[in-house]
Amino acid sequence: MGLKDRLEEDRANEGRGDRGSVTHWRRRLLEEINLEDLTRLTLAQRRVRLEKVVGHILSREGPVLSERERSMLIRRVVDEALGLGVLEPLLADETVTEIMVNGPDNVFIERAGRMQRVDAAFNGEEQLYQTIDRIVSLVNRRVDESSPMVDARLPTGERVNVIIPPLSLSGPVLTIRRFPKPYPIDELVRMGSLDAATGILLSAMVRARFNIVVSGGTGTGKTTFLNAMSAFVPTSERIVTIEDSAELQLMQDHVVRLESRPPNIEGKGEIAIRDLVRNALRMRPDRIIVGEVRGAETIDMLQAMNTGHDGSLVTVHANSADDAIHRLQTLATLGEGLVPYDAIRDQINNAVDAIVHLGRWPDGSRRVNEVSVVSSRRREEFRLEPVMTFEALPMGPNRAVEGEFRHRPLPRHVAGRIYQVGESVPAAFGVVPDERPGGER
Ligand SMILES: Nc1ncnc2c1ncn2[C@@H]1O[C@H](COP(=O)(O)OP(=O)(O)OP(=O)(O)O)[C@@H](O)[C@H]1O
Ligand SMILES: [Mg+2]
Repeated sequence: MGLKDRLEEDRANEGRGDRGSVTHWRRRLLEEINLEDLTRLTLAQRRVRLEKVVGHILSREGPVLSERERSMLIRRVVDEALGLGVLEPLLADETVTEIMVNGPDNVFIERAGRMQRVDAAFNGEEQLYQTIDRIVSLVNRRVDESSPMVDARLPTGERVNVIIPPLSLSGPVLTIRRFPKPYPIDELVRMGSLDAATGILLSAMVRARFNIVVSGGTGTGKTTFLNAMSAFVPTSERIVTIEDSAELQLMQDHVVRLESRPPNIEGKGEIAIRDLVRNALRMRPDRIIVGEVRGAETIDMLQAMNTGHDGSLVTVHANSADDAIHRLQTLATLGEGLVPYDAIRDQINNAVDAIVHLGRWPDGSRRVNEVSVVSSRRREEFRLEPVMTFEALPMGPNRAVEGEFRHRPLPRHVAGRIYQVGESVPAAFGVVPDERPGGER
């Protein structure tokens, strides 16, 4: 197949011009070269080396091209490979989960949950600005004095945040988050992020349509866990997911994915999470999954949970399960300033059934630190009953966090809902005995 045909096919397949072919050769190039070596070369040396390698690959595998077409293709492939400069090799390294650039000379990465500094540096601020420009222009945005903070996304899915002076006092700062890899719950159990019994309990809760809030600090694995739990939703249900930047990768067929939209350069055209939650209610969802609530949408989400869309899942940024439920209350007042606090508490007590709190530990591991069920009702003060807590042991010489997942019996109202859908309560938990005279057991 000739290049022209292939380009046309790519255009048809990907709808973004002939970039598909350039991407193909770039990928081949990255497979062929030794990235470690490359980081030691200057930019000019790197270009020469890459052009040579692309030339070889094209002679071997490429289409027949005129000399001019050939050198143009080589130029474009190398441009794309070097487009993100020193970031390219880091992006190509699967084990790097986060890249943080604090000005041209300070590049840090996160690998296996641990932060480390790397040798890479830009050739000065100008080159860093060029890289930033390339990234944000991909999503039709612009970084300048009037919009010094921008969220963007690389074509490969990575989330990028940019903030420049004068807001940043450390020069232009770039934070790149790798597209989170989906982990099935079994794998999370294998990695020690939770124990098997808790996994089984959570799967039963999802099937019994508990409304579940996943809470945790930044980067504790909330999105990853939400994704893992979503796998328990039966395939017969219609799921609508709502996110600021689409990261969830659900396995079911019947999923509608919605993504909010930031305002454009003129500050217009914003579609907030709140608008999407309201719209989702008109789409006949069985379940609504919201990537994260952090503002006015919280009240809409609670209302949705209370009006027949139970079984919904959502994450919230919080430092503990207890903090999470109080934060929901604060966030909910952002939407409807005039609703009295205890009316909102009523909504939360009705809506939220369980909170799964995640934590990131000093050794880089992520864990379910607590699973609590909500036992308070109506306008009562919040009452959480922990049914699982992770108790860490003092850290040993290998600096790995070890400990024990402790289980407590489930309150009867919780167990009742699980039995009702034909699920069972894992033996590790059990059920609180009924103490009423004449009660069972
Ligand atoms: N249980 C886990 N064990 C090890 N690594 C994990 C685990 N869960 C998530 N991660 C990794 O941690 C990083 C952050 O995960 P994730 O995006 O799910 O966190 P988050 O809490 O949603 O972050 P944010 O606060 O930015 O939304 C990713 O690189 C992800 O692959
Ligand atoms: Mg997240």
